[in-house]
Amino acid sequence: MCGIIGYVGKNNAKDVIISGLYALEYRGYDSSGIAYNAQNKIKIVKMEGKVANLEKKLKENNDIPNIGIGHTRWATHGKPNETNAHPHKEGITTLVHNGIIENYLELKHKLSKYYKFKSETDTEVACALIDYYVKKENNKLEALKMAQKEINGSFAFAIIFDDELNSIYIMRKDSPLIVAEKDNNYYVASDIAAILSYTNKYYLLDQGDIAKISDKIYFYDKELNSITKEINEYRGTINDVMKNGFDHFMLKEIHDEITVYKNIIRSYIPNLNINDLKKNFGNFSKYHKITIVGCGSAYHTGLVAKYLFEEFANIPTNVEMASEYRYKKIFPSKNELVILISQSGETADTLEAARIAKENKMDTLGIINVLSSSIARESNKVIYCLAGCEIAVATTKAYLAQLLILSLLSILMAYERGKISKNEANNYLKDLTKLQKDTKDIINNKEYYKEIAKDFYKDREMFFIGRNIDYGLCMEASLKMKEISYIHSEAYAAGELKHGTISLIEDNMVVFGIVTDSSIAPKTISNLKETKARGSKMILVTNKEIANNYENDNSYRFKIIVNKLNPFFQSLTIITTMQLISYYVALLKGENIDQPRNLAKSVTVE
Ligand code: F6R
Repeated sequence: MCGIIGYVGKNNAKDVIISGLYALEYRGYDSSGIAYNAQNKIKIVKMEGKVANLEKKLKENNDIPNIGIGHTRWATHGKPNETNAHPHKEGITTLVHNGIIENYLELKHKLSKYYKFKSETDTEVACALIDYYVKKENNKLEALKMAQKEINGSFAFAIIFDDELNSIYIMRKDSPLIVAEKDNNYYVASDIAAILSYTNKYYLLDQGDIAKISDKIYFYDKELNSITKEINEYRGTINDVMKNGFDHFMLKEIHDEITVYKNIIRSYIPNLNINDLKKNFGNFSKYHKITIVGCGSAYHTGLVAKYLFEEFANIPTNVEMASEYRYKKIFPSKNELVILISQSGETADTLEAARIAKENKMDTLGIINVLSSSIARESNKVIYCLAGCEIAVATTKAYLAQLLILSLLSILMAYERGKISKNEANNYLKDLTKLQKDTKDIINNKEYYKEIAKDFYKDREMFFIGRNIDYGLCMEASLKMKEISYIHSEAYAAGELKHGTISLIEDNMVVFGIVTDSSIAPKTISNLKETKARGSKMILVTNKEIANNYENDNSYRFKIIVNKLNPFFQSLTIITTMQLISYYVALLKGENIDQPRNLAKSVTVE
């Protein structure tokens, strides 16, 4: 939520900041703004809406600043208008902020005798608080230390001061922030994507860290002890954050799925056997219970994994939405493993769930995409998803990577518990070659999914029904559809429909039935038929083996049939088909696919 960037160096700060903001736009796109030095003063330019509006506005002047800070906003406190847009300025202090100041009303009250607040934001209050201490302490680092002690909530700040136009100060807690240097140019950003065209080496700020950037980067902990930092290296390239000829990042990222599988195989299972998995994932034999925690799509991967862990490894598994888990009574048990799933590794609710699990002395395993992100750093153990930068707000390749890692983990756990033999485990793993080939074929056949999308893209609502593992897939398929195409869709457990919700089925309403578990296929098919009897247009999503049994049944509007794979990997090809359909529905509707309304990619507020 919200992207921040800062630059000090030899080049035009406006250009560096605008290109960085474009790369960070996935974090929010309600408004954007910049503050920079011009004629020895700080100049602030803000615009409602996307970064393109700000870029246009900036072209109206010829300023060539060498220092600046910028922001792209996902509104939390106050409407997405120009007044609430960042940067905010109070006294001699100008700042941009990512996070939420929870006690801002209390602070606002305290500071209102010194400052006249103009916006509805919590950020303006934080700005005033820092300015207040700058004046009181007459020392900027001390001021930041004092302000940090008083602020409750999360923040990543980049700050410039009227009387020190050659330095940027930064400080973070619970919101990501990196800083980098290349050829005496200094960059600050919420995420490496913003600066990847200059460097792939960066420093990470830890909880409470403060830094001053001028002729070099000076790092301090929250008590202002001078500290040194290790340099991190992002292993991808600038291509990771470019569309590379695709119309949308989402489509590019669906194509990337084949590379993601390759990365996972190369790093964790190069010989496609269980010994590789044992070596690279570790030993999980002591765990008797699993709790999986995540949000949105990450939570949905848990629903699928629950089935695999229970069915094949015989381990009782709970799946919890992180936003619920953090406020509910939990019953930690001995030898319970808490698995935290997150693409960004910064999702506030999932991060808090990690902390709760640790406080309750449970082991935590993070399945995370972004390297060295907060959840990765706070988990006892991490398995990285290796999906590369994901820019489209709707997750595709990272979801697939999470699901594959969980499927591999369930094979490992089933083997460790003697539920499958070494031979069986190795045979399952060999199917990874088929999985890659099938995914490639599905993607190459994308015109078919476009044809299907054409049939119903003007509809207003639809259903996805399935049982057990397929219900988990329905949840994700339905989320993908609604978040980018704005068609209201519901995922429903197929057998539950007749207990009330079936009353919503009307003539010509699309009902997808996802059916991959042959043992219960006839049950789900009957439920689909019950909707057909009430006028629905049925779309069957299944594998070849099940489809063969319904070969002569022409009552379906469409059949989406993937090759049969072993039960650990079957979900993966199914979901790629659903991602493609959602993509084409949104495309035909002309929606903003990569940046759907009201959303942002990295949800660092609760
Ligand atoms: C949906 C989507 C979200 C995320 C959720 C968790 O397409 O992307 O539902 O899955 O916000 O984000 P991470 O995985 O970063 O914790």
